[in-house]
Amino acid sequence: TLPLIIDCDPGVDDAVMLMMALASPALDVRAITTVAGNVPLHLTSRNARMMCDLMGREDVPVFAGCPRPILRLPVTAEDFHGESGIAGLDPFDPETPLGSSHAVNALISTLRAAGPNEISIIITGPMTNVATALVMAPDIAHHIRQLVIMGGADSEGGNITPFAEFNVFADPHAAEIVLSSGVPAILLPLDATHQVRAHDRYVDRLRDIPGERPKIMVHLLEAANVLEEKWKGKRTPMHDPSTIGFMLAPELFSGYRARVSVETEVGEQFGQTRPRKMESGPHTWISHADADGFFDLLVSLMERA
Ligand code: BDR
Ligand code: CA
Repeated sequence: TLPLIIDCDPGVDDAVMLMMALASPALDVRAITTVAGNVPLHLTSRNARMMCDLMGREDVPVFAGCPRPILRLPVTAEDFHGESGIAGLDPFDPETPLGSSHAVNALISTLRAAGPNEISIIITGPMTNVATALVMAPDIAHHIRQLVIMGGADSEGGNITPFAEFNVFADPHAAEIVLSSGVPAILLPLDATHQVRAHDRYVDRLRDIPGERPKIMVHLLEAANVLEEKWKGKRTPMHDPSTIGFMLAPELFSGYRARVSVETEVGEQFGQTRPRKMESGPHTWISHADADGFFDLLVSLMERA
């Protein structure tokens, strides 16, 4: 099994991502860490714990992290995720406990307890926690196999400004710290995630699977589709779930090696990512995703959930 830590800000698509990760026997989720992003920290933390309950995985440790970005003022995204952050589900008080450590300390101790290059970190929110951990404890870099990041945009343009993607825009300084750390990173930007949308033919396949958990995912996707249709006139993109797709089936994705920089000057391009093609670059910029293959994987995970 592949050991990993998931750093997230649920968020409807983060919730779908967590369902996939927690359903997969091939993934060993050592910790879930939460950050302020789509909604404030107390809600992203509650929502992550709700998903552990709903997947019967109350054993997975969940830690709350940074309640705000490093330098800029907080931005949230209730328009796309609902006031609760988890549009489509009725919020409840989860059984899954919240760990007593700060997420940044949990990241550091979990990584230090692992061997060299052992753990993959999935990041599907603003990168504040991982940036802070790398600043506090640079030695953890040696324990990270790779970062698999949902973030950034190039040819697609942004989704929160014409230039910037939400996760990077919500903490550009953290993104720059993470991307200049030298740790190898795979980026799943809007260029790729906009190719993988929850079309009816895919949601219908999930609806046909017996059991409670596939239905929960259908509720999430339907709610996200309503909001995405309202604001953008399209079906909802599978941003964060693509990270789990990449972990389990990297052959569904393709891109190029690069070095990615982030615009940290306040101005109209604030939070823009710039991938520069480079054979020996530390980053892989994913530019293509196989939507049919992704949904085959999603359906197979939910069939066994
Ligand atoms: C990203 O922003 C958030 O709203 C989503 O959860 C995803 O992580 C997409 O830009
Ligand atoms: Ca997210």
